[in-house]
Amino acid sequence: MRAVIAFCVAILPLVIGITWNPPEKATDFSLYQIYPRSYKDSDGDGVGDLRGIIQRLDHLTESNVNALWLSPIYRSPMADFGYDISNFTDIDPTFGTLKDFEDLVKAAHDRNLSLILDFVPNHTSDKHEWFQKSLQGIPPYDNYYVWHPGRVENGTRKPPNNWVSALSGPAWEWRDERQAYYLHQFIKEEPDLNYYNPDVRREMEDVLRFWLDRGIDGIRIDSMKYIYEDERFLDEPLSGLTDDPNNIDYTLRIYTTDQQQTYDILPTWRKILDEYEQPQYIFIEVYANTSSTMKYYHYGADFPFNFDLITNLTRTSTAADIQHIVDSWYENMPEDSTPNWVAGNHDQPRLVARLGDPRARAATMFALLLPGVGVTFNGEEIGMTEQYISWEDTVDPLGCTASKATYQSISRDPARTPFQWDDSVSAGFSTNSHTWLPINKNYKTYNLATEKKDKNSYYTFYEKLSNLKKSPYLKEANLVTKVLDKYVFAFARETEDHGSVYAVTNFGDKASIVDLSVFDNIPRILNVHYASADSKVLPWNKIIQIRRVILPARSVVILTTLDAKF
Ligand code: NOJ
Ligand code: MG
Repeated sequence: MRAVIAFCVAILPLVIGITWNPPEKATDFSLYQIYPRSYKDSDGDGVGDLRGIIQRLDHLTESNVNALWLSPIYRSPMADFGYDISNFTDIDPTFGTLKDFEDLVKAAHDRNLSLILDFVPNHTSDKHEWFQKSLQGIPPYDNYYVWHPGRVENGTRKPPNNWVSALSGPAWEWRDERQAYYLHQFIKEEPDLNYYNPDVRREMEDVLRFWLDRGIDGIRIDSMKYIYEDERFLDEPLSGLTDDPNNIDYTLRIYTTDQQQTYDILPTWRKILDEYEQPQYIFIEVYANTSSTMKYYHYGADFPFNFDLITNLTRTSTAADIQHIVDSWYENMPEDSTPNWVAGNHDQPRLVARLGDPRARAATMFALLLPGVGVTFNGEEIGMTEQYISWEDTVDPLGCTASKATYQSISRDPARTPFQWDDSVSAGFSTNSHTWLPINKNYKTYNLATEKKDKNSYYTFYEKLSNLKKSPYLKEANLVTKVLDKYVFAFARETEDHGSVYAVTNFGDKASIVDLSVFDNIPRILNVHYASADSKVLPWNKIIQIRRVILPARSVVILTTLDAKF
């Protein structure tokens, strides 16, 4: 296992009104995603906001988080809850003001937290001034979006080709005003920008500078693979998976994703970020095949998100499957780059809903104990489950465009309900009993305050993991993975002088007895640092012999060497 620490030079930044000494650029840390509508509401309107985030930054510090990434906070009509942006350089009033943002940057930096913003370059809102002017053909905006007159077949006008939106339906929408179709790779309220136009590229560079001047520490780039489309506008080949031309899986997206120009634009953004003195991170949101994903490492990203714990880890994965998930990222990423592990996000079902316990706990453990960057979506540190949302309460555009019969499997609302802080009104999220999405009914049992007092809770587990993760010794530890039984997967993080940690999971329905001496450097006895199930068999802080470890069915266990300095 290669060493995963690399450092850049840290220089005192001269940022508007802020004097903080940014940490050196790190390659092993804990990244926390805040979905601002759902983290903490400070003003009682039932929607989370920036002041709310400031009020609850201590939770991040206590959870040993090093960087937070905010889903979009810009002006937005909220057709896609902030990913449809009508002004890239202002804060939506729902979330607060630019002054609130300035205060948030300061408050985060005071706590040594890096602040990452969501950069959404692929599209704007249809309410953006650029689109409104483009619609009227007003230069220079007329060429800011991808317009096409379509084709005429048997006297009827049709969209230019068979491209489908990644969220649903055709990717083309007709507008009488322009007598043309515009392209939208996402919902129709999110028209795609035309990146062949240098004015558009310049505008987006200015957007980056605007936020960099306000002291941010990097960007998560949204929907990166969709930025450029092939200009020939040819039909895409059919996938053969469905006959429905409106189905998102209808075509193979060879002309609308992963274009070479999309990679080429990344170094131009990297260059701008690197003009700033404090270290700047770039994370890429991309669901693509391995080679298209890994390529972003070569074009200036710190990393493309590794979604394998979401897309490949299932309720039936065997130990060998898990070993493959863990090993394949290393095998495919370029030498000396930063691995990362994403356990969940706002577009995916909740971890616990996806995998059940203890597989969910195992995924959290993989995210935080494997080398590199561990990514936590807000709420997953307390094991939030999904709340049933009625058709009437559904607000996600994906759910709303589905039918009453099918929306439940498509809507992203259930994973976006407000954070459960305590057992008071609206789970301590808001003073308002009506919140933008309903509070999960289980909040009296599952909330941060209650979980802090319970040694078997998800949060107690998370806390243990995050305490290990923050150890400087663990950051230098190597990685060894092993399959010990059909459903028993284990990995070791070994250091030379500061002890080692062994993470063992039994996903099977039966107890399994394993011999840990298959790990070359393991001592004869270990300490039980944590065990999720049946603590009579593996009581915490008990010393056990490694040759015959009894793992209860469905368990997650952390063992440490007696000399461990973490
Ligand atoms: C990816 C975001 O994560 C998702 O929430 C959004 O709907 C699409 N990009 C469109 O911006
Ligand atoms: Mg509010």
